[in-house]
Amino acid sequence: AIDISKLRAESSLITLDDGFGNTGSCASKITFIDGNDGILRYRGIPIETLAEHSSFVETAYLLIFGHLPTHDEREHFTELLTESSALHESMMKHFEAFPTNSHPMAIMSAMINSLSTHERPKIERGDDATLEIYAAKLISKIRTIAAASYKSSIGEPIIYPRPDLRYVDNFLHMMFSLPYKEYEASPEISHALNMFLVLHADHEQNCSTSTVRMVASGEANLYASCSAGVVALWGPKHGGANTEVVTMLQRMRREGLTPQELVNQVKDKSNNRRLMGFGHRIYRNFDPRSKILRKAAERLLNSMKIDDPLLGMAQELADIALNDDYFIERHLYPNVDFYSGVILRAIGIPLNMYTVMFTMGRTPGWIANWKEVHDNPGQKIYRPRQLYVGNPKSEWVPRHLR
Ligand code: ACO
Repeated sequence: AIDISKLRAESSLITLDDGFGNTGSCASKITFIDGNDGILRYRGIPIETLAEHSSFVETAYLLIFGHLPTHDEREHFTELLTESSALHESMMKHFEAFPTNSHPMAIMSAMINSLSTHERPKIERGDDATLEIYAAKLISKIRTIAAASYKSSIGEPIIYPRPDLRYVDNFLHMMFSLPYKEYEASPEISHALNMFLVLHADHEQNCSTSTVRMVASGEANLYASCSAGVVALWGPKHGGANTEVVTMLQRMRREGLTPQELVNQVKDKSNNRRLMGFGHRIYRNFDPRSKILRKAAERLLNSMKIDDPLLGMAQELADIALNDDYFIERHLYPNVDFYSGVILRAIGIPLNMYTVMFTMGRTPGWIANWKEVHDNPGQKIYRPRQLYVGNPKSEWVPRHLR
């Protein structure tokens, strides 16, 4: 194993910060986090306020353009989203080519990248009007791709978007309507999903957003950069954690494990298990999104009269872990993924779509970060350094002598 602390001490010319725990890669005006006090603000507005009052569409506008939209700006952006919701007919054929049980995240990244094959976004630096058009296309089409990838994965006909429906309701329609039966979203479900998307819309320099900025720094186009973000989000330590939380709760139920027994398994490092949905690089006290989601999950389940044992198990698990020295010493608290799965389950979103839902939510944040890189006249290409620890010099051995 490489002894990082020894290397760090020996390195005189390069700052070695594995995992970039203390390295700022950019200056940004988009999102503020104070990990000690559990504060999260988009463009200065507290996340609690946005979760209560803002729609996902105006939150997206706020993140990308830096201010809350006026009435006219909001209407214009909404119109652009509506106009852009359909996919090019030839793109529909791509869905037919994916195997039926393909993971929707694989389809999502491939389809976003393939948007660039139809139209490569050409946006001049500082041209906000053109950026708005492409931002709306991406935010709108990601929703259509998400629903279509689900429909094709279960072998049902793809449902086309409806121009009379707003963002969240249109998504639910494309997910759950059938050719012979329209799905009608209840206000509670629309509200919960809207809040889910608002809470996921940005989170400064996380793994996927840093990836988008890195790709953008090489001047790749908006679609290509965001498709890289999708792939970075997929893993279980990042966006994939929302799926893992529910898988973990289901396993507890299946195996009859009590929350205390699971916590004990996690604490025993030889098991190499983590409490999914717990811990965060920046939040060392609590994740404000998790607090909002815990309440939202309770509210949604009550209003739908659903008694989901997984919510009770999650709450009990959190209460045990929050009072356990292992978690206290390491500053491990529930993160955004801990309760979000319970909400998605209640809405009827299947487990393999959870990270896709995260992708839909995070898209405005990626676009805002792409724009910040793109609009910066002095932007340097991202190019981290490394410490080489391989052989200093090796000899070439001819093939017949190896
Ligand atoms: N369960 C048990 N132990 C944990 C957990 C956890 N969820 N998270 C961290 N630890 C422990 C580690 O084992 C380590 O212990 P040690 O000091 O005895 O070696 C210590 O806490 C520090 O862990 P790191 O992995 O160094 O912390 P880091 O900041 O690099 O990782 C991360 C943050 C990836 C989120 C981690 O906490 C984790 O894996 N959590 C579970 C997955 C998860 O929920 N991810 C979603 C994060 S939010 C998001 O991206 C949307």
